[in-house]
Amino acid sequence: MRLLIIFTGLLHISIQKSTPEDSSYVAAVVEFEVNANTDTNIQNYVQLIKDAAAQNADIVVFPEMTLNRRQSQSISVPIYGLLKEYPIPALNADLYNDILVTISSAARENAIYVVINIQEVMNCEDAPGEECPEKKTYYFNTNVVLNREGAVIDRYRKINLFGEYTRTPALKPDLGDFTTDFGVRFGHFICFDLMFQIPAIQTPQKLNITNIIFPTMWFSEMPYLTAVEIQQGYAAQMNVNFLAAGANNVRVGSTGSGIYSGKAGALISLMAGAPTTRLMVARVPKVPGQVTDSYPGPIYDDPSIHDNLFLKSDPSLSAHTSQLLVPGYQSFVLSSGETMCNFRVNITQTNDTSLKYRAFIHEGFNIYGDIRHIRVASCSILSCSSDNPKDCPYRFKEDEEKIEFKELSIDILSHPLNYNTTLKCDDVEYFGLSLRDNKFPLNPANYTFTKHEDEKASYSFKINAAQNNLVAFAIWGRIYNEDKLYTYRAGVLGGVRTFDGVASGGSMSCCIFACTGDTIDTCAKRFDKYTSNSLATFEELSIFAFLTPPKRNEELEVDNIAYFPVSLQPTLLPLEVNDYSLETTSLFGVVDIYNYTLLRKDIELYSFGIFGRAFEKDDQEPSPPWVEEEADTESPDDDAVPGSATTLHSVYMLVVFIFAVVIM
Ligand SMILES: *[C@@H]1O[C@H](CO)[C@@H](O)[C@H](O)[C@H]1NC(C)=O
Ligand SMILES: *[C@@H]1O[C@H](CO)[C@@H](O)[C@H](O)[C@H]1NC(C)=O
Ligand SMILES: *[C@@H]1O[C@H](CO)[C@@H](O)[C@H](O)[C@H]1NC(C)=O
Ligand SMILES: *[C@@H]1O[C@H](CO)[C@@H](O)[C@H](O)[C@H]1NC(C)=O
Ligand SMILES: *[C@@H]1O[C@H](CO)[C@@H](O)[C@H](O)[C@H]1NC(C)=O
Ligand SMILES: *[C@@H]1O[C@H](CO)[C@@H](O)[C@H](O)[C@H]1NC(C)=O
Repeated sequence: MRLLIIFTGLLHISIQKSTPEDSSYVAAVVEFEVNANTDTNIQNYVQLIKDAAAQNADIVVFPEMTLNRRQSQSISVPIYGLLKEYPIPALNADLYNDILVTISSAARENAIYVVINIQEVMNCEDAPGEECPEKKTYYFNTNVVLNREGAVIDRYRKINLFGEYTRTPALKPDLGDFTTDFGVRFGHFICFDLMFQIPAIQTPQKLNITNIIFPTMWFSEMPYLTAVEIQQGYAAQMNVNFLAAGANNVRVGSTGSGIYSGKAGALISLMAGAPTTRLMVARVPKVPGQVTDSYPGPIYDDPSIHDNLFLKSDPSLSAHTSQLLVPGYQSFVLSSGETMCNFRVNITQTNDTSLKYRAFIHEGFNIYGDIRHIRVASCSILSCSSDNPKDCPYRFKEDEEKIEFKELSIDILSHPLNYNTTLKCDDVEYFGLSLRDNKFPLNPANYTFTKHEDEKASYSFKINAAQNNLVAFAIWGRIYNEDKLYTYRAGVLGGVRTFDGVASGGSMSCCIFACTGDTIDTCAKRFDKYTSNSLATFEELSIFAFLTPPKRNEELEVDNIAYFPVSLQPTLLPLEVNDYSLETTSLFGVVDIYNYTLLRKDIELYSFGIFGRAFEKDDQEPSPPWVEEEADTESPDDDAVPGSATTLHSVYMLVVFIFAVVIM
C-alpha cells in the first residue's frame, strides 16, 4: 500500500504539465556562459532542457547567441517552406540542420516548450513564402520556438540590431507570438529590441499579451540600464510576466536573467559576478503580479565577487543638469526642456564620507549601438565618489561608509502620454528604476511608483523604508515617438534656383545644413515638432570658400554678384554678429577668399553658410536637381563627426573647404 502511494506520487510528478485551467504555469530561464564551441553548447543545452523538465517546467528559455555563434554554422528555419509540411525536425533529421534536430529531439523527449536564439541563414535563391528583397543570402538573429512534440511553431527575427554588422534586421517588422497547451499566449523579442516601441511596447499592447519571452546578451550600463534593473522595470510598467534569459560574459558586462511577474517583481533573478551557467525555475501566476506561491527571489552573490562584473556608465551623464545633495532635508526642482523634476530628500550623513549623492535631470537623446538615437526624459538620484558630476554613478564597496535615505521621493512632469492608434500602443512610457550596490533593484515592497491623474504625464517614485545602498533611483521615460535627431550635410550650389516656382535666380552658395534623414531630399527641412537637443552644436565650424569675384555692371552701376553670410538658429533668427567672424581677401582680383567661422561652441544651428546671388542669371531656367556626390570629408578627425556627410558639387569654379566637428 505504502509502495503504491509512492509510485503514484512519482508518476504524478513526472507527467505534471500545466493545463489551461490552472492559474499558473512553471517557467525556466537559463543564464548561459558564452562559449565559442558549438558542440559543447549543444550538449549543455540538451542537459539543461532535461533538467528543466525534471523540475516540471512547461517552458524553458535560452539566451541570445549562445548556441551557434559562428556564421558558418548558421541554421535555416524554413517556417513557410519545409517546416509547414514537416514541422518536427526530430522526425525528419535528413531535412534539417543537426542543431535544430537535436534541440527538437530534446524538446520532444522531455515534452517541454523550448525557446532558443540562433544565427539564422536564409538563401533567397530558394526561400518559398519568404520576403526576399534581393536574391542573396541573408543572416538574421532569430528566436525559434519548439513545442512539446519538437515541432517548430514560431520564428522571430530581431528588428533592432546592436551593431551586428554581418546580420540583417527583420525584413518585415513581424512580431513574435505563439500559444501553448497550458493556455498561455506568449510574445517574444530579443535584447536591444527592449529599447524600442516596436516591438517592446507593441507586442504586449497590440497583441494584448501578458507573457513575454526575452533572450538577451545585455551589456549592462549604469545608472538606468543594468540588466535585472530594466527587466524588472519593464515587467512592472507593462504589467507582464517576463521571462528573461541572459548570456553570461562578466568581463564585458553581460549577465542578467530572471522571471518577473508584473508589479510583484522578480520571482527569481540573477546578476552574476562570476562566469555562470544556471537554470532558474519559478511557478508563474497567469495573471501578472498575483503571486500566491512562495518563490526564491533574487540570487545574490557573495560581495567578494560583486566587482568582477564589468559595468559601463552612461558617458553623457556629466553633461546633464544636476545638483549635489546636502546632509539633512531638502526639496528642490530641476527643469530642462519639457521636463520638470521635483525632489524631496532627507539623508543622514553623520561622518564626513567621500560618498555623495547628486540629483540629475536629462531631457534629450542617448546614443546606443552607434547609430540609434533614443529620446529620453529622466529624473534621478545617483551615487558619486566625489563632488564632481564626472564621478557619478559610483558603485561603492561593501565596506564603505554608507549614506542613509530616510526619505526619497521624485516627481516627474514631462511629455504627455499618447496612445498611437496606428501602432496600437503607447508612444511614451515611464519606468521606475533602481539599482543597489549589490547590482539588484529594490524589492517592489520598498518603493511606490504611481501615476497622477493629470493630462500631462506625471509620475511619482518614492521609497517606502529607509535605504542605505542606493546607486540609482530614477524615473526613466522613453519618448518613442521622438527618437529622431538631425543629421548634417555640407553643400555647394552654383546655378539657377527657383523661388517656389514663381521666379528664378542665379545662386552661388556654400553651406552646411540640417537634414531630417540620411538622404539629400530630407535636407533643409525641420521635424514637425521642435525638441530640445535634437540639433547639433559645433566644436569647430569654418567655411573657407574661393568665390568668383563680383564684376561691376557699368550700365546699372552695381555688382553682378553679392555674397551674404547667413545662419539660422532654433529661434529662426540668425547668429548675432559677435558669434561669427567673416574675413574676405581678394587674390589678384581673380578669386575672392571668404573665411566664415563660427565662434561659439554652444549654439544649435539649422544652417550656416555663404549665400551668393548671381543677378545676371535671374529669370533663367532653373538648374537640374542636385546630383549626389560623396567627397572626402575635410575633417581633422573623422571619429568626431557623428552623422555628418559631405556633398560637394563644384560648379562655376567654386572651391570650398568646410571644417566641421559636430557635437550631437
Ligand atoms: C485583453 O485580454 C484580456 C484577458 O486576457 C481581456 O479581458 C480583454 O478583453 C482583452 N482586451 C482586448 C482589447 O482584446
Ligand atoms: C530628516 O531625518 C531626520 C532623521 O530621521 C529627522 O530627525 C528629521 O526630522 C528629518 N527632517 C525632516 C524635515 O523630515
Ligand atoms: C563615524 O565615525 C566614528 C569614528 O570614526 C565611528 O565610530 C562611527 O561608527 C561612524 N558613524 C557611522 C554612522 O558610520
Ligand atoms: C504613430 O506612430 C507612427 C510611427 O512612429 C507615426 O508616424 C504616427 O504619426 C503615429 N500616429 C499617431 C496617431 O500618433
Ligand atoms: C526593504 O528595505 C529594508 C531596508 O530598509 C530591508 O531591510 C528589507 O529587507 C527590504 N524589504 C524587502 C522585501 O526586500
Ligand atoms: C578663419 O578665421 C578664423 C577665425 O578668425 C581663424 O581662426 C582661422 O585660422 C581662419 N582660417 C584660415 C584658413 O585662415
